[in-house]
Amino acid sequence: MFKYKEVFTRINKSLAEHNNPGKVASYIPELGNVDPDKFGVHLTKINGEDFSCGDSNEKFSIQSIAKVLSLTMAYKLENEKLWKRVGVEPSGTPFNSLVLLEHNKGIPRNPLINAGALVICDVLISRLENPKEELLEFVREISGFNHIDFNPIVVASEKSMGFRNAAVINLMKSFGNIENKIDDVLDFYFNLCSIEMTCKELSHTFLYLANDGVSPNTKKRIVSVSKSKRINAIMQLCGFYDEAGEFSFKVGLPGKSGVGGGIVAIHPNHYSIVVWSPKLNPKGNSWKGMKFLERFTTETELSIF
Ligand code: DON
Repeated sequence: MFKYKEVFTRINKSLAEHNNPGKVASYIPELGNVDPDKFGVHLTKINGEDFSCGDSNEKFSIQSIAKVLSLTMAYKLENEKLWKRVGVEPSGTPFNSLVLLEHNKGIPRNPLINAGALVICDVLISRLENPKEELLEFVREISGFNHIDFNPIVVASEKSMGFRNAAVINLMKSFGNIENKIDDVLDFYFNLCSIEMTCKELSHTFLYLANDGVSPNTKKRIVSVSKSKRINAIMQLCGFYDEAGEFSFKVGLPGKSGVGGGIVAIHPNHYSIVVWSPKLNPKGNSWKGMKFLERFTTETELSIF
């Protein structure tokens, strides 16, 4: 039986001795206003036990971590048809890259890079009557927290600088892989990325992926066992863009990062863990979050490998 809280405190103390060379994301101006020294961690076991440390009850912008939630919704609706429009291969490129899209005729390598997440948003707009409301309903239900919401200031901030995402979606539209109006898909995508949660809320939200697709919060099945396994596999291979191999190598868990500085990682049949520290490494992943999780799985000797 691990004393997680003690492990968290010890790792946090030892990391605090190092200079954090990371930089807060500033290409989305609103994210640049966050206190760079925030640090929180929260672990939830599938039996509902919670362990936390630091600023774990402060909200932050979950950004790309939300792409796993939209993927879950789209996969439920489309089943295996989904993979005609988006692949399941690691990209080995930055999250906002256009390079492979031209070669792959507008089919993104996976649903966790920006291009893939935009296709998933397009699917949801085609399938849902009120995509934004239904997304929030879904997230509130699986998390067990009714107040989870978008942040309109972050949406506006992303829109004001969304040139890359506009380039990505226009390229895919030219290949026929976007059905809806570009502005509608971008608006939905930016809202998705603007969702805010605390480490605790996010850790509870992702628990269904540690529990074979069933949310321990509500005891409701969110996805089938097979889909849960496959979403975890996609996170393992694609959750950290061109640093996915590094995360697998050093941490050994499926996970997903966001440019708000959050990282969620899943230990199937055991727990979900969220770390938040806003300063990012050059690949756009939280510098301290990566280091913390590496030490955590090394010290506890808990990983899927
Ligand atoms: O579209 C963007 O660039 C951001 N809304 C999301 C990027 C992101 O979080 C990638 N993560 N590491």
